[in-house]
Amino acid sequence: MILKKDTILIVGAGNMGFAFISALLDNKISPKQINIIEKKPTLKLKKISKAKKINLFKSIDELNIKTKISITLIAIKPNQLDSLFTQEFNSKTKNSILISIVAGKTMGTLKKLSGNNKDIARAMTNTPVTVGFGTSIIYFSKTTTKTNKNKATHLLNLVGQVDEIKNEKHIDTFTALFGSGPAYLYLLIEIWSDLAKKYGLKNSEEMVVQTMLGSLLLLLKTQDSPKSLRAGVTSKGGTTEAALAEFTKNNNLQKLFKTAVSKAIKRAGTLSKS
Ligand SMILES: NC(=O)c1ccc[n+]([C@@H]2O[C@H](COP(=O)([O-])OP(=O)(O)OC[C@H]3O[C@@H](n4cnc5c(N)ncnc54)[C@H](OP(=O)(O)O)[C@@H]3O)[C@@H](O)[C@H]2O)c1
Repeated sequence: MILKKDTILIVGAGNMGFAFISALLDNKISPKQINIIEKKPTLKLKKISKAKKINLFKSIDELNIKTKISITLIAIKPNQLDSLFTQEFNSKTKNSILISIVAGKTMGTLKKLSGNNKDIARAMTNTPVTVGFGTSIIYFSKTTTKTNKNKATHLLNLVGQVDEIKNEKHIDTFTALFGSGPAYLYLLIEIWSDLAKKYGLKNSEEMVVQTMLGSLLLLLKTQDSPKSLRAGVTSKGGTTEAALAEFTKNNNLQKLFKTAVSKAIKRAGTLSKS
């Protein structure tokens, strides 16, 4: 029943906003419940809105004052946030929970811009939300009601997995580890498949992707730990052992990963302050 009775406003229907719109429709949320504000709607968005009869507006001014928004999802770029929160926007969204997925914009900033809206969620997610496999975290203002917490969590659950955090600082850590995470994996795919190509293997990228996908499915299906599955592939004196000895020598890989992630955490902190 959660979300079935809500009137939802999505602000910004780019990569992220559109993922949420698709997820709402896929989960049988009535198009009548969905309102979208998008400055420059794509042809795809225009077609879907027309076909499903979703209210699509170019600005908050066009939203009927009588529309009682109960959930507002903000999915615009960080540098576009300040100009969004006009008096009209705050008055039309004041009775809704504000959920921001905008990178680097703190709870303090959101409170100030919204004129102290009581129910605010600051969330962070990653690009796999666009295929329903996102990893997200959510941080609530102290005054958010339990009902609104449930609604926000449920909305994020439509595009993947979500965990609540109690310390806002963990958003920077999450951004560095999981917001940027897909890029780490893609880099590994590039390095690995370039190497396979150099050794003369055709379809190297496909082989890498299949190896990753297959290994992850095996991990999920067997529910064994990664450590035990790794041990299962590593026979004494074999090829895997030879390679792993290099990867783990002096903890080089662990150290490199830690240094890289700590740089990303530091950068996330700087961006949140600026
Ligand atoms: N991409 C990621 O991996 C990721 C992950 C986690 C969080 N995020 C956060 O998600 C947010 C959205 O990212 P995105 O990649 O979806 O951005 P995007 O593709 O640029 O989408 C934002 C859309 O909102 C529109 N817009 C801007 N201001 C508006 C306003 N006042 N009213 C209505 N529409 C407005 C933009 O129009 P114009 O193009 O005309 O400006 C654009 O079409 C960002 O803050 C980002 O930090 C992204």
